[in-house]
Amino acid sequence: MGVGMVVAVDGPAGSGKGTITKLVAQKLGLVYIDTGALYRCITLYMIRNKIDLKDIDKIQKMLENINIELKKEEDSDKVYLNGEDVSIKIREKEVNEFIPQVSNIVEIRENITNLSRKIAEGKEVIMEGRDIGTNVFPNAKIKIYLDATPEERANRRLKQNEQEGIEISYEDILENIKFRDNNDKTRKIAPLKQAEDAIYIDSTNMTIEEVTERIVKIIKEK
Ligand code: DC
Repeated sequence: MGVGMVVAVDGPAGSGKGTITKLVAQKLGLVYIDTGALYRCITLYMIRNKIDLKDIDKIQKMLENINIELKKEEDSDKVYLNGEDVSIKIREKEVNEFIPQVSNIVEIRENITNLSRKIAEGKEVIMEGRDIGTNVFPNAKIKIYLDATPEERANRRLKQNEQEGIEISYEDILENIKFRDNNDKTRKIAPLKQAEDAIYIDSTNMTIEEVTERIVKIIKEK
């Protein structure tokens, strides 16, 4: 497999991974790959087609027929599911609620892991997710584990939601963050954890710019 340079960025929900990884990609001319978007597409497809979480035959058929594309269009990153632009729909509440169960299914994880490797083939990429440094690219030269306290992450999500006109209370956000943390960290297959050779960054008291600069510096030094 023609593996180009890979920067692996892992961390929990709301750690700022998405925003920061995109900025680093822009600054260094790397291809940005959001693996969470792949899990979100499959989740949306399963909700729409009412696919039972236990129906492995149907899940396997679905995986054979599903086509997900991540495209950079002008200034925004678009996600296409079987030709349809689902960039907004995959961020909706229903998907957030169903995704923990979907991301625990072995067949789905294997499929997305292979797809993520394929998308990165021969490119210089920065890939974000939960298991990139531990499972998708265990040999990545640069691994970052981005963290922040649950309270700080809930605060950030609250502010982001306010800007987008989404009304969810701080308590509900914090509860959902803790629920997803627990699901991601205790999953049997490819749980969220810091790879031994990953650089740990606690962004609780750092600005987006500070974290971005720190990662850019780490990459440039390698
Ligand atoms: O990064 P995100 O919040 O968009 O990810 C959505 C969900 O997908 C998250 O709850 C866990 C799952 N996920 C995963 O299990 N493994 C990855 N590499 C990326 C995301």
